[in-house]
Amino acid sequence: MRTQIAIIGAGPAGLFLSLLLDRLGIQSVILELHTRQYIEGRVRAGLLEHNTVQLMHELGVGDRLKRQGLEHGGIELRFNNRGHRIDFRELASGKCVTIYAQHEVIKDLVAARLAANKPMLFETANLQLHAIDSTSPYVTFQHNAPGQKSTERLDCDFIAGCDGFHGVSRTSIPQGVLTTYERDYPFGWLGILAQAPPSSHELIYAHHDRGFALLSMRSPQVSRLYLQCAPDENLALWPDDRIWHELQKRLATHDGWKLTEGPIIQKGVTGMRSFVVEPMQYGRLCLAGDSAHIVPPTGAKGLNLAVADVRVLAVALGAYYSTGTTDLLAQYSATCLRRVWKVQRFSWWMTQLLHRFPDDNPFDHRRQLAELDYVTTSRAASQTLAENYVGLPLP
Ligand code: FAD
Ligand code: PHB
Repeated sequence: MRTQIAIIGAGPAGLFLSLLLDRLGIQSVILELHTRQYIEGRVRAGLLEHNTVQLMHELGVGDRLKRQGLEHGGIELRFNNRGHRIDFRELASGKCVTIYAQHEVIKDLVAARLAANKPMLFETANLQLHAIDSTSPYVTFQHNAPGQKSTERLDCDFIAGCDGFHGVSRTSIPQGVLTTYERDYPFGWLGILAQAPPSSHELIYAHHDRGFALLSMRSPQVSRLYLQCAPDENLALWPDDRIWHELQKRLATHDGWKLTEGPIIQKGVTGMRSFVVEPMQYGRLCLAGDSAHIVPPTGAKGLNLAVADVRVLAVALGAYYSTGTTDLLAQYSATCLRRVWKVQRFSWWMTQLLHRFPDDNPFDHRRQLAELDYVTTSRAASQTLAENYVGLPLP
């Protein structure tokens, strides 16, 4: 097989890239490790920035998003058992964010790719990248056609490493090329989906002595809630009653606000880390999304940052194929990293503002509360939060 761009991974980065390239008339093949059913069912992020929503509409994949997405013009920061609203529409030039589950985005993008009859292979095993520092890179993998297992080779001009944090793309780059910047956090999030109408129209980020809690949602009938927990929390110790009890405590207010409970339909623990590799490219391989960087979920940025990367990559590849110029490709990493570091800063800032750290002392606790007070009363500070949350302008 031969194509122009081999895309490794059918997550948000890989799928958005393939549609952006189609629009430019550039051929691509997507190679995905898992089944279609698996990637369309995996519960992950849920909040789309203004730019991501616009892009879905521009690519013609926004119909379901338009019908089912929930537009939010603000969030609540809750501390000392009181709520304080940050109004995005007023503070961020009328922009807002949209709640729409990542796996619904995946379904829309996969459907568009298949409807256009463009190549996408699922269940590709033992994928390896070759000759990435030459002008003729290629990928080998095993693919199970019904009844037979064969080793395939895909030749290409460029490889887009969109295979997430645990993928093979980043680790195919020779030792010594990449510099890694990282920070682990001494906590994780226990997340649930519950068959319960959301108890608020907008998200609530709660600072509490017992630890952080977040109220989010997926639809008018389904709530998504998170609790700060140990990074290796044992879910077996968290029967439904205990989860609701803890959420009730952390989200309680002085004014009698009620958290509606309901059957829990999904539970999981997510670790938290900040991670960046530089540069995001080597030879003919460009990394995009989680394969190059991870943010803690407090800023709701992981998916949106992956989309921002592939927009830059598509423009650079478009310039290469239309005029032969390699300038934008050469700057791919530097262009992305300017945004990546700002998003890293914001995600770290939201995380340290709202969570309890095991070595915090009463001074740290007071400092957090003072900062929350400042953020919710200073227009300059709330505007800084708002413009980062809805998404910084594209380059
Ligand atoms: P991914 O979505 O990871 O996609 C990579 C794809 O590559 C996958 O489909 C994978 O199967 C495939 N792949 C991997 N290895 C190979 C291989 N060797 N060969 C071929 N294919 C391969 N972000 C938020 O903003 N809010 C959240 O609440 C949130 N929750 C999360 C919960 C979990 C459990 C995880 C893991 C992430 C969460 N994130 C969240 C982060 C967000 O989901 C990611 O930032 C986003 O999915 C990044 O998209 P991506 O396309 O770069 O990578
Ligand atoms: C979610 O709805 O899953 C969600 C929302 C906001 C976040 C993280 C996760 O900051």
